[in-house]
Amino acid sequence: MKIIAIETSCDETAAAVVEDGKKLMSNAIASSMDLHAKYGGVVPEIAARSHIESIMPIIDQSLKSANCSFDDIDAVAVTQGAGLGGSLLVGVLSAATLAICFNKPLYAVNHVIGHVYANFIMHSELDGYILPSNQPSFPMLAIIVSGGHTQLAIFFDHLNYKMLGLTRDDAVGEAFDKVAKILGLPYPGGPNVAKIALSGDKFYYNLPEAKLDSLYDFSFSGPKTAVLRLAQSEIGEDYNFPSFEVSKRLSEAQKANIAASFQYSAIKTIVNKAVKAYNEFQPRSVVIAGGVAANQELRDQLLSSIPADVLYFPDNKLCTDNAAMIATRGYYQIINNVPAVDPYSIDIMPNLKM
Ligand code: KG4
Ligand code: ZN
Repeated sequence: MKIIAIETSCDETAAAVVEDGKKLMSNAIASSMDLHAKYGGVVPEIAARSHIESIMPIIDQSLKSANCSFDDIDAVAVTQGAGLGGSLLVGVLSAATLAICFNKPLYAVNHVIGHVYANFIMHSELDGYILPSNQPSFPMLAIIVSGGHTQLAIFFDHLNYKMLGLTRDDAVGEAFDKVAKILGLPYPGGPNVAKIALSGDKFYYNLPEAKLDSLYDFSFSGPKTAVLRLAQSEIGEDYNFPSFEVSKRLSEAQKANIAASFQYSAIKTIVNKAVKAYNEFQPRSVVIAGGVAANQELRDQLLSSIPADVLYFPDNKLCTDNAAMIATRGYYQIINNVPAVDPYSIDIMPNLKM
């Protein structure tokens, strides 16, 4: 069964074809990131306009690179939410139009659950993907770490899961992005913080971790403010000093040490909670999902605390937003009898929760 999926929840316009929920046939992505960089974050109107320009070429590219036409496609899957309203609208309307014109069933996918399913892709017709040799088995602990979400969930099977905890304020990727701003690094911040952290000492500063009464909940707003206070005091200023002026007075060594210490402590918070959940639920697999899953410190810390044979990391290209993960999740909805949606009435769900 070949599924074409469309994903436009944020600033990536993506379409992909996946066969039988495990074989990647194409993974086309156009990002409007460059257009947002000068504003220091995604501008919703710019993202939506750029989806409109890119969506048809990206769909064409995904079919061409999979050597397919619509005759070969069995179903269409699309990200229905969560995401930016204008961005989601372009993807959902495009997918509904394709479903109607080519008479294919349409499946609506939750973006965050989609991220988890990047871990089920195990073969590729495309070069340059590092994939697992088998699929995760249940019960499966999912560590979901992206720009919009930080949560732990235990999946008992494809349709039944329990949320263990989530962030009470900022997502971890958002905290990386804000720390990057304090350090004067360009958007998207996460990869840039990780890059300069390589030349820093992660034990140089002892940054606080949020203390919460709930075992599996997260909070990254306090740690992010702690980074700002630390940076201000390193240049001999107090909390009144404007955050956007700080980076100009920090040395490269100070920036690298702050980046490394922040990354170490933010990742340690996630890994400590994931290990607690691992011990409590004894899952048969542990999967990492979302943009921050590309972070090497996260992979290293997990590998030193959870047995390697139960751990699954998606290829870096499948960690950040893509449509292959949506097609894969779509496949498991279909084979588990989740009904198709009506293409004439499907609506976006910008605030969809897991
Ligand atoms: O999953 P994603 O592409 O979009 C959302 O659904 O939110 O995640 C994007 C987030 C951004 O905050 C970005 O800074 C972060 O993932 N990110 C990273 C790395 N690569 C991407 N954070 C830390 N280390 C990385 N290597
Ligand atoms: Zn995402």
